[in-house]
Amino acid sequence: MCGIFGYIGDNKNPLHACLDGLAQLEYRGYDSTGIAGIQDGHLIVCKKEGKLANLQNILTLKTLEVAIGHTRWATHGKVNDLNAHPHLDTMHSLAIVHNGIIENYDALKAQLKNEGAAFVTETDSEVIAHLIAKHYEGDLLKAVQTALPFLHGSYAIALIHKDHPDQIIAAAHHCPLAIGTNDAQTESIISSDPNALVGGFLKILFLRNAEIARIEKGNVQVFDSHGNLIVKTQERLECAAKAPSKDGFEHFLLKEIFEQPITIRKAMLGRFSSETAKVEFDDLKITAEEARNYKQVWFLGCGTSSLAGSIGAMYLEETAKIPAFSEIASEARYRTELIGPETLIIAISQSGETADTLTAMRAFKAKGCRTIAICNVKNSTLTREADYSIDLQAGPEISVCSSKAFTSQIAILALFALHLANLRNTTSAEALDLARAMPFIANQIQTVLEKAPQLEKIAKKYAHFDDFFFMGRRYMFTTCLEAALKLKEISYVNANGYAGGELKHGPIALISPTFPVICFCANKKTEEKIISNLMEVKARGAPIVAFAPDSMTQIHSIADDLFTLPTTIDPLAPFASAVAGQLFAYYIAKERGCDIDRPRHLAKSVTVE
Ligand code: AGP
Repeated sequence: MCGIFGYIGDNKNPLHACLDGLAQLEYRGYDSTGIAGIQDGHLIVCKKEGKLANLQNILTLKTLEVAIGHTRWATHGKVNDLNAHPHLDTMHSLAIVHNGIIENYDALKAQLKNEGAAFVTETDSEVIAHLIAKHYEGDLLKAVQTALPFLHGSYAIALIHKDHPDQIIAAAHHCPLAIGTNDAQTESIISSDPNALVGGFLKILFLRNAEIARIEKGNVQVFDSHGNLIVKTQERLECAAKAPSKDGFEHFLLKEIFEQPITIRKAMLGRFSSETAKVEFDDLKITAEEARNYKQVWFLGCGTSSLAGSIGAMYLEETAKIPAFSEIASEARYRTELIGPETLIIAISQSGETADTLTAMRAFKAKGCRTIAICNVKNSTLTREADYSIDLQAGPEISVCSSKAFTSQIAILALFALHLANLRNTTSAEALDLARAMPFIANQIQTVLEKAPQLEKIAKKYAHFDDFFFMGRRYMFTTCLEAALKLKEISYVNANGYAGGELKHGPIALISPTFPVICFCANKKTEEKIISNLMEVKARGAPIVAFAPDSMTQIHSIADDLFTLPTTIDPLAPFASAVAGQLFAYYIAKERGCDIDRPRHLAKSVTVE
């Protein structure tokens, strides 16, 4: 979270380049935005609480010689103008922007204050400005080199100094930072996300492990933490200027929900043949022997990506007959003790920058595990650090609330299960069923989308409730958790998700006529049991909304409101059901007047632990 951008060069006005860059990075946080630059020997800073538009409204600056900018997702300190980045030293000579968390900021702050530094914000980041200023003796790079070892935690920083208008100093440790230069060597751009770099073809490098860069116009020098110059490999990247568009939809979320028939096809394109039921992933080079040697598979991820992992674990067990577990990345990282190379790790992330997922993957890698990243952003940290990666091919997901990434993730996981089953020579009935049913997923999603007005009507009826109980069993348990997460995230209502079997173990006490129960029923194997659960709910007067397959006739007399789904095999039921859940959450959020694409307190890319 937090986005950093910086520009030095002749091709653009650095001020405008920075504002454009921040617009691309706003998905990383939108609590506040700020920009700092140098003009005629003066350091100029402008920052404002809220989205970039708020900053643009108060900006009177016309041009800058060099500029750095920041979009904030608050960790330390309230969301206000003062805590917005950039932060300055006491003499207002230098300005820094920071992504990450400085864990020892409290001790550093006390010490620097004692030494006379004047702190004005509540942030952890401000200590970086004062620390570097303390060590500055005319050489900015040297000051940063001396200061960095005092910082504990994670950071990507960019820094400018009024006496050095010809350079930006940048450093990164466990936070992404890409630096691009053009062939003509007339400009250099830094960004938390290489996909936000705009400028035709650029040569890109990524900073890592406390590396420090001195960035000048069209020229970058990188040093290790001991000050040695290092040669970094640069990748050539086409950085096309392409602002994301809603294509006529009211919100990015709605557009992305409606893209799913296409994104599902793209996830399978060139990878799956329905005739041969064979799966090939270009970049995945697992041999049959390797596949047979794995004793188990662990899925790592957060939020929606973690729920995709839970479905992936069921796919692997049923189809490839291998024990599989899905664990929330922030917890999994503490469970590596008994793990070794016999465990295959699959890290799932839309952004590829989620700090919890990265940290967990690194912890398992350190235990000798092979790692596969399933990701939607090429060149992200996760794809660069994993042994192999599989691209979702879903196209940019702009809305903070994940939709198409989830269905693409589970499509890839279904394919991966088939692939592993093949490699391990386990031709199960489940694998055959899965391969036969896969080609119909896109059409099933289309059927749901065509009935969106019906979901809108149901959502409107329930939008005034503040508490919802989501329920499902087996594949529909994970699906109900995902649907509840969508509703919480964009509507700010309390939505609990439970396995149907757990109802009697406590949550049934909550059931009342003012507590709607949203039940996902499309799991054939557990149909009778979920009906019993619904009867228990009905007996206690709760309104029931059921998402059920058209084959489930009994549900008509039980549900107050019913949305029917196309019938399919249990493992593939999450696709159509998840899309219905996304639309339900969307229309409730819309009815409640929420900021759908940018829900409060959230960010698209969560780069702190
Ligand atoms: C989903 O709607 C959320 N915005 C969130 O749970 C998200 O899935 C999670 O933060 C993980 O992000 P990632 O997929 O980019 O790693």
